[in-house]
Amino acid sequence: MRGEAVSVTPCGDDGVILRVRTEIPQPPLRAARFFMLRRDDRLSPAIPRPFSLYRQRGGDLEFLIKVMGQGTEALAKCTPGTALRVVGPLGNGWNTLDGDGPPWVMLAGGIGSAPFWMGIEQALAGMDGATPARRDQLVYVYGAARKGLLYDLEAFRTLGVRVETCTDDGSHGFKGHVLQLLEHLWSARALPREVRLLACGPERMLEAVEELARARNLPCWLSLETFMGCGVGICNGCPVTTVADGPMGAWPNAKCCVEGPVFSVEQVTLTH
Ligand SMILES: Cc1cc2nc3c(=O)[nH]c(=O)nc-3n(C[C@H](O)[C@H](O)[C@H](O)COP(=O)(O)OP(=O)(O)OC[C@H]3O[C@@H](n4cnc5c(N)ncnc54)[C@H](O)[C@@H]3O)c2cc1C
Ligand code: FES
Repeated sequence: MRGEAVSVTPCGDDGVILRVRTEIPQPPLRAARFFMLRRDDRLSPAIPRPFSLYRQRGGDLEFLIKVMGQGTEALAKCTPGTALRVVGPLGNGWNTLDGDGPPWVMLAGGIGSAPFWMGIEQALAGMDGATPARRDQLVYVYGAARKGLLYDLEAFRTLGVRVETCTDDGSHGFKGHVLQLLEHLWSARALPREVRLLACGPERMLEAVEELARARNLPCWLSLETFMGCGVGICNGCPVTTVADGPMGAWPNAKCCVEGPVFSVEQVTLTH
């Protein structure tokens, strides 16, 4: 569908929040679903790029975008009224984040924070008739290389849940990465051992989260950011290895775009 940029707001050292108005207004969408975006001119590459939905605001969609290459740079240079091509909503999104079990620990690395803002909002509101989560049942653990790559941190703080931060260089919060911070919280008895994990971030981080979840037998879902071509299941450009004899059946790969981007570690593996 067609859309247009409403605003572009700088965010962190190398990011922007792009607000988009689509020609077809979108209903409330599940957090961690995504859209494929490109400008409708030659500044964008021909293949659109995938972005998690960050927020929905007054009928508009917001995306939190880290400038990486040509596609993201073109989007960051939009001005109000720039015409866009928008494909979506795509993918499955987080499961219903209910308040009936152990705390949800949300592990975000860098731009991997994008699917969590709405995830927290929806967990607090309750979805699909599930018990809403209490604020103290949600722990947002956010890490990045340095302070300037902790995108839109203050907006997360306004949600009123516990926010724990860390940076590799110690410029903000705990010095270390998100899993070191998690271990620190466990050893300090600042967090129960039994938690449900959600994670989004760089692949190396997600591999480590998967290993931790398997070693401690914790329920865990990952929102994956594989390379994508079509975003709709046609090009086979987004394979993810499935767990042998797991719930996804005998096929060795799942398609991240249509079967994900959220998978449980019972379904797929990044480490085998
Ligand atoms: C489901 C999904 C949701 C995503 N959500 C967001 C989001 O909310 N915000 C955001 O900023 N980005 C998100 N991404 C990643 C984003 O799509 C890529 O950063 C973007 O496609 C890069 O395009 P580019 O043309 O700017 O860079 P390119 O020129 O294509 O690449 C620049 C550099 O980035 C690397 N790169 C490109 N794509 C990826 C990727 N998927 N993972 C790791 N490295 C990559 C390339 O290897 C290269 O080194 C998401 C990806 C997926 C699959
Ligand atoms: S991106 Fe084309 S099949 Fe997934």
